[in-house]
Amino acid sequence: MQNSIAILDFGSQYSQLITRRVREQQIYCELHPWNAPRTQVFANNPKGFILSGGPASVYADNAPQIPAYVFESGLPILGICYGMQALTHALGGKVAPAPQQEYGLAHVKTLLPSALLPPGEQRVWMSHGDRIEQLPQGFASLAKTDHAPIAAMGDTARGYFGVQFHPEVNHTPGGRELLRRFVIDICQAAPKWTPSSIIEESIQRIRDQVGKKNVLTAVSGGVDSSVATALTHRAIGGQLQAVFVNNGLLRKGEAENVIRTFRETVGVRLHPVDAVDDFMDALRGVAEPELKRRIIGEKFIRIFEAQAKLLGSPPFLVQGTIYPDVVESSAPDRSQAQRIKTHHNVGGLPEEMQFELVEPLRYLFKDEVRTVGEVLGLPAELVWRQPFPGPGLAVRCLGEITPQRLERLRAADAIFTEELSSAGMLRLHRPLTRTHLPASFGSTSGRESLGVQVGTSQAFAVLLPVQSVGVMGDQRTYQETVALRAVTTEDFMTADWAQLPHDLLGRVSSRIVNEVAGVNRVVYDITSKPPATIEWE
Ligand code: XMP
Repeated sequence: MQNSIAILDFGSQYSQLITRRVREQQIYCELHPWNAPRTQVFANNPKGFILSGGPASVYADNAPQIPAYVFESGLPILGICYGMQALTHALGGKVAPAPQQEYGLAHVKTLLPSALLPPGEQRVWMSHGDRIEQLPQGFASLAKTDHAPIAAMGDTARGYFGVQFHPEVNHTPGGRELLRRFVIDICQAAPKWTPSSIIEESIQRIRDQVGKKNVLTAVSGGVDSSVATALTHRAIGGQLQAVFVNNGLLRKGEAENVIRTFRETVGVRLHPVDAVDDFMDALRGVAEPELKRRIIGEKFIRIFEAQAKLLGSPPFLVQGTIYPDVVESSAPDRSQAQRIKTHHNVGGLPEEMQFELVEPLRYLFKDEVRTVGEVLGLPAELVWRQPFPGPGLAVRCLGEITPQRLERLRAADAIFTEELSSAGMLRLHRPLTRTHLPASFGSTSGRESLGVQVGTSQAFAVLLPVQSVGVMGDQRTYQETVALRAVTTEDFMTADWAQLPHDLLGRVSSRIVNEVAGVNRVVYDITSKPPATIEWE
């Protein structure tokens, strides 16, 4: 791959965001740990380096340092926050604790217009404790804020730049332009990372990997497995066979839709397995969430194994691993230490099975996966689908799972989805606001000026094993409760409850109690994550 940018990760929470922003400029880039070996970083012939922010101070023991190969390459460098400080430190300048730490919005004034920064003032997002006290040789101060005399610096001759603020976050409105100037004007990378080039390259890579051998894929209706399957099918056609296991825990009409889409739109050889009774038997009498997950995971593996045998045990298996999974697993210190829920490997595949993996989405972010899916002709409702957990409705049907209770949940969920869809609220329209602001920043006026999120990132119904008294007509009822859950989030690690319009909630509530037999009460979940999680189990 030519024309790439290498991003070195010094531990900032925004490192992946830098990568996404550069890719938005249609420039391929990869995120590497700051101490990644030279061969890894140069594998894609980078045309420049971006050094991310990070929590350390350059003077701390074991502070991460810029590898020598970065300077030896002679390529342009942009240091962001810690990256700028590390650059300063490495080149003989001076970094010191700022007399006043800066967190939140600040106004940056350009002192010296350059290839990186236009003249004028701009609003930026700051988050730093240290600052540059003395520039390294060859550098000039390019911009300042009220609290930092050197908010941006540059040595244009060498193409070395540093910014104290974060151009990658939405709170820095001119940040995209700054990154564009760096990667395109300064590094001279050509914007060639387009959906069609991504597809072409992936197809070639899949063909090179599998040759004439057969490949198996498991589709669930989820975005990643669907796009991975469609892409692989484009590459190798009839060598690919797909298995779809209907576990009886899908939403209304979902199984039929998945089967239709893959047969008609994608055209892949699809083998549906009706395992509904099998799963129901295994889950009978089980109410404990982790046990539900385990049973579902194991059952899936056994059924999949049997299918693979029936299909002649193909040596390759498609997996919808995406770039954030790859990045997270290469940075072990970033993984969450405590297991809150067993998320992964539910609906995952057996480790002991001897497959070689085909992972066509390994280099793509979710938004890129969606774009590729659209270009491949997958239906929009599939490509833009909200996340759905592997164990499906089992973790939304609290208490014991019975066919009757699942039916109730499906009907309520379909009503909620339908109403959200007519209101245009099945997507998030104004991403990124409150959750990304530290509490210390949080005056109401400050938050409002950034806009309120509209729509939902994930929304669904939950059936509670709680009966309450109601009255319908003149009759006393004693029936179950539906909880509506809707959140706004970008990363699903933290989430706000969605501020849905009251009239919409009212409509959903009265439709559910009128149309769904066995439910006489609807409640709305107004808990954020943390302290709650998005799913109820
Ligand atoms: P929580 O409930 O932990 O969910 O806040 C975060 C995101 O993960 C999804 N989720 C799962 N996905 N298997 C999955 O594949 C699971 O067992 C699982 N549990 C939760 C959840 O829907 C949300 O998007």
